Amino acid sequence: MITVHHADNLALLPTLRAASFGLIYIDPPFNTGRTVRRSRVTSRKAVEGEAGTRTGFGGTRYVSTLRKSESYADQFDDYPAWLAPRLVEARRLLSVRGSLFVHLDYREVHYVKVLLDTIFGRENFVNEIIWAYDYGARSSTRWSPKHDTILWYSKSPGRHIFNADAADRIPYMAPGLVTPEKVARGKMPTDTWWHTIVSPTGKEKTGYPTQKPLGVLERLVKVHSRPKDRLLDFFAGSGSFGDAADRHGRDVTLVDASAAAIRVMKKRFAGRDVSFR
Ligand SMILES: C[S@@+](CC[C@H](N)C(=O)[O-])C[C@H]1O[C@@H](n2cnc3c(N)ncnc32)[C@H](O)[C@@H]1O
Repeated sequence: MITVHHADNLALLPTLRAASFGLIYIDPPFNTGRTVRRSRVTSRKAVEGEAGTRTGFGGTRYVSTLRKSESYADQFDDYPAWLAPRLVEARRLLSVRGSLFVHLDYREVHYVKVLLDTIFGRENFVNEIIWAYDYGARSSTRWSPKHDTILWYSKSPGRHIFNADAADRIPYMAPGLVTPEKVARGKMPTDTWWHTIVSPTGKEKTGYPTQKPLGVLERLVKVHSRPKDRLLDFFAGSGSFGDAADRHGRDVTLVDASAAAIRVMKKRFAGRDVSFR
């Protein structure tokens, strides 16, 4: 069963029952859409466009530049403050064996890691998953960023769900060095996940600009939840996490504030067991 709420997550989350979700995945936007009043930061230039490198409010992609005079801290100090109360809610909503996965890009991950350490405790940080992809142009002036980071926190250290047997296996890089049985079975993935982006021409594409691939999210669902668990994504976008959860028979709650996201999810989940609120 998929339940979709069209709401600001900060208003909706407090209405959900504490400790009622076994797995929460979120992929928050970078830009909160709020005006930062500091004069130096208002010189940020964000140009909307498909080729954008940043995810803005409502899923829009932006190419963003900042004047050299701006201080490093100023660029980011508003974002953790915006995200913090939502992460506090995520912790409240997790069941005792539950896990939170936060999907971030390389610009914000370090700030959010520090914030999550504060909210969950460093002892509850389990993994930094690197999702590496290989698509698009390459720079000749620096190493092209081609990865996202997914931070994993558990509610109680050592009690998290990790169904290793449910993980899809990957091919050995040097199959000649291991037995044919091992080659046939494949090996367990590590914290570095190679997976292509959603193909711009493939069946999976919904048209939502920040859509994440089902393959990455299905691995999270299978390994980190049990069939009876309830799952939650409160920055749902096109509903990729909900789709992954539903494909594996999990009940999932999705929240998004954008009408465009709700429209995409209505189309995506047509014919499934879904309720829009
Ligand atoms: C990066 S996108 C998520 C993309 C999603 N993972 C997917 O695969 O399609 C972030 C989403 O958060 C939503 N969002 C931003 N602020 C929100 C808020 N305060 N409450 C609920 N949703 C919000 C945006 O509308 C956007 O759809």
